[in-house]
Amino acid sequence: MATAVQTNNLSIGYNENLLFENLNLSIPRGEISVFVGSNGCGKSTLLRSIARLLKPQEGSILLEGKEVHKLSSREVAKKMGILPQSPVSPEGLTVHDLVKQGRYPHQSWLKRWTEEDTEKVEAAMKATRVDEFRDKPVDELSGGQRQRAWIAMTLAQDTDIILLDEPTTYLDMTHQIEILDLLFELNEVHGRTIIMVLHDLNLASRYAHNIIAIKDGAVFGQGTPENVINCDLVRSVFGMECQVSKDPLFGTPHCVPFGRGRCIVPELRQAKSGA
Ligand SMILES: Nc1ncnc2c1ncn2[C@@H]1O[C@H](COP(=O)(O)OP(=O)(O)OP(=O)(O)O)[C@@H](O)[C@H]1O
Ligand SMILES: [Mg+2]
Repeated sequence: MATAVQTNNLSIGYNENLLFENLNLSIPRGEISVFVGSNGCGKSTLLRSIARLLKPQEGSILLEGKEVHKLSSREVAKKMGILPQSPVSPEGLTVHDLVKQGRYPHQSWLKRWTEEDTEKVEAAMKATRVDEFRDKPVDELSGGQRQRAWIAMTLAQDTDIILLDEPTTYLDMTHQIEILDLLFELNEVHGRTIIMVLHDLNLASRYAHNIIAIKDGAVFGQGTPENVINCDLVRSVFGMECQVSKDPLFGTPHCVPFGRGRCIVPELRQAKSGA
């Protein structure tokens, strides 16, 4: 299996706070890879360093064999698009203008805006269903609409590798599935490599070919959802007890977390009456 992204003895972090040391990770080309792990374990940091937004303290990241930090931002942006975790757009910028920015890496003084750019922008807005509010300022949209506008910008960039940090945040159930289906199609039909962070293990299991579970600055487990998602992993990585069965529709691992929920009601009532 060809590799899209490889990290070699990578150390990254913020000043003296190293999050990963000597990380050797290989992310396959043409597949959907999903990072999972608890809050603060470094998923966004890793994704941002792959996208050249954060410099390694040591080691290197190879993008299809070439060292990412030695490429220009335009070269990287033609190969790889990233949707960061909490993107902020300039005040008043409309959806249409935001999505158009995705075409920036394809422009140069030789090559101005073309029909192809317009087509990619329109297609991205249509696929994410943001064309109906294309002339609205991004900062006046709801959280989910805004998220979809940013996804549209990332898609308009039309790159072989697409990185997305929690793309389904803020989205209602319908739009979550729609976006994940869209990414699946981009992978299946157009061969795009998708690398994303998801918190929902069940959706991750449905859509990923390759799950990468992160814990304590290292890869705790990597492989197909069937091979990676189980009670032991969930306990170790998330510190949570759960039951893992098969997704009734897809047959992929389906994790049901334990917790007290309604079971706690009689206990609470008793405590209240005793008080
Ligand atoms: N710009 C920054 N400067 C200093 N420390 C940072 C910075 N960004 C993140 N960190 C720290 O690095 C650690 C990892 O953060 P990161 O955002 O990569 O986690 P994450 O796995 O993406 O978490 P989440 O699931 O909450 O998004 C955290 O302890 C965080 O406080
Ligand atoms: Mg994050």
